[in-house]
Amino acid sequence: MENEITELRKEHVNFRKLLDLLEQQLDLFHYGETPDYPLMTDILHYMTRYPDHFHHPKEDVIFGRLAQCDSRVVQRVEGLARQHHVIAESGARIHDNLESVLNGAVMPRRMIEAPGLLYVSYYRTHMDQEESELFVLADKLLGDDDWKKINGEMRSHPDPIFGHDIEERYRAVYRHIVQTTACAG
Ligand SMILES: [Fe+2]
Ligand SMILES: [Fe+2]
Repeated sequence: MENEITELRKEHVNFRKLLDLLEQQLDLFHYGETPDYPLMTDILHYMTRYPDHFHHPKEDVIFGRLAQCDSRVVQRVEGLARQHHVIAESGARIHDNLESVLNGAVMPRRMIEAPGLLYVSYYRTHMDQEESELFVLADKLLGDDDWKKINGEMRSHPDPIFGHDIEERYRAVYRHIVQTTACAG
C-alpha cells in the first residue's frame, strides 16, 4: 500500500509548481514591478484550503502511525506536525493580507514580500524533509494492517486544481502552470 506515499509525493510536485509561481511573482517586487495580486491570492487560497485541510492531516495520520511503530521517530513526527501548523498560520496571514490589497487596502510591500518568500522556502524545506525521511520510512515500515487503519482515519477530497475538475476560481492559476510547464519543456 505504498501508493498513498506515491500520491503524497505527486502532490508535493504540484505544490512546488505553485510555490515556484508564487516566488516568480514575489521576485517582481525586487525589480520594481507589480506582481499579479489576484494570482498570488488564488495560490494562497488553494494552499490554505487543499494542502492545509487534506494533505497535511493525511501526513499527520501516517506519521502518527509510524511513531507508534518506531519510537525513535516521535520527535521528528512532532516537529513536522508543528511545521504543518506554522505553514497553515503563515499561509492564512499572507492570504488575508493579499485579499486586503485586492479589496483596496494600502499594504506596505514588506507585509507581502518577505513573509511570502519565507513561506516558499520553509515549505520547500518541509517537503524535502518528508520526502527524504518519513516517506521513506513509511514505505519501509508500514504494512497492510497499518494502511487499513490509516485509511480508516483519513479524509479525502478532490484536488480543485490538479484533480479531475478544475474549480472555477483556480482556472487562471492552472493556465499559468500549464504555460510555465510548456516553456520549461
Ligand atoms: Fe507535510
Ligand atoms: Fe507533505
